Amino acid sequence: MKTGTLSRPAAKDQIHGGPMAGRTVLVTGGSGGIGRATALGLAAMGAHLAITGRDRGRTEAAAREIRAAGGGPVDVFVADLSSQSQVRRLAGEVLQSLPRIDVLVNNVGGYWNTRHVTADGLERTFALNHLAPFLLTNLLLDRLQHSAPARVVTVSSNVQAIGRIDFEDLQGERSYSGARAYNQSKLANVLFTYELARRLQGTCVTASALHPGVVRTSFGAEDPGRVQRLFTPFMRHFMKAPAQGAATSIHLASAPDLEQVTGRYFAGSKPKRSAKRSYDQAAAARLWQVSADLVGLTAAGIATSARPSRAS
Ligand SMILES: NC(=O)c1ccc[n+]([C@@H]2O[C@H](COP(=O)([O-])OP(=O)(O)OC[C@H]3O[C@@H](n4cnc5c(N)ncnc54)[C@H](OP(=O)(O)O)[C@@H]3O)[C@@H](O)[C@H]2O)c1
Repeated sequence: MKTGTLSRPAAKDQIHGGPMAGRTVLVTGGSGGIGRATALGLAAMGAHLAITGRDRGRTEAAAREIRAAGGGPVDVFVADLSSQSQVRRLAGEVLQSLPRIDVLVNNVGGYWNTRHVTADGLERTFALNHLAPFLLTNLLLDRLQHSAPARVVTVSSNVQAIGRIDFEDLQGERSYSGARAYNQSKLANVLFTYELARRLQGTCVTASALHPGVVRTSFGAEDPGRVQRLFTPFMRHFMKAPAQGAATSIHLASAPDLEQVTGRYFAGSKPKRSAKRSYDQAAAARLWQVSADLVGLTAAGIATSARPSRAS
């Protein structure tokens, strides 16, 4: 993937009090783990932060910490992003509250060893890790474009390298494995990012994906596999701290020299080639179409309610 060249950015607000002053950043999953550390880092750089979480208490507690780090306001939004109606409500609340969005960090993601079904009848890993950022980004796209130069940063994983998109069984109905579902969703994050970058050429909104490293968080704790249960307590000592895991997200959200860099995958704050499969434009276009159908996104925009979803 080559770096895209975008047309000249509009003038930004005057920068006071830090390199990100005057910029508004929305981080999904800012209540814990890598997302909270990302929000803390960007707040310390002067950004106006908005975070999302599932639980109001946890999200407010994180917001207090982030306010202390940055000194500025922190907006709190509460939604379960595995539910499409909650993603739509969240987008509506964000559009009401935030007159600009300079950076959207699609950070929420999870791993489940056993198959779970969402309120929409979809497999949870696919729904939360891929469909939620797909829908939220599309719902916020106009606001991002009006705030341009703007960035969409999506947290993937190095397991994208071993992921496969099984279009015949996207929801793991015929056969489910937590690892397969997770790897597929993280490859989907990269395919989505590259397709988004192609669709946004010439708009001054960039799209990047990243691997944060192996990080000491609550990741996978709700429904861990046997191997995770046995090894994670020992492995935790060797994992990165959340602040280290947030470094690449913070870099992609803030580095001035990345303002016109789009359609790239990063690890360790450096561009890196992603899996060969992630450059398959036909697969990316097909995944976009399937995802659009599942969330009720039409070519003309967003349908008022998602089509009845089915596990396909
Ligand atoms: N940790 C790693 O080693 C690692 C490696 C590669 C990639 N990643 C990726 O990094 C991202 C962040 O993971 P993490 O390690 O920070 O995980 P984490 O500690 O489990 O944090 C996940 C965040 O997402 C929120 N969340 C979870 N389920 C949600 C839902 N249904 N609706 C709304 N919010 C929800 C959590 O909110 P609550 O406070 O309510 O739990 C929390 O804020 C994920 O995309 C993950 O795939 C992580």
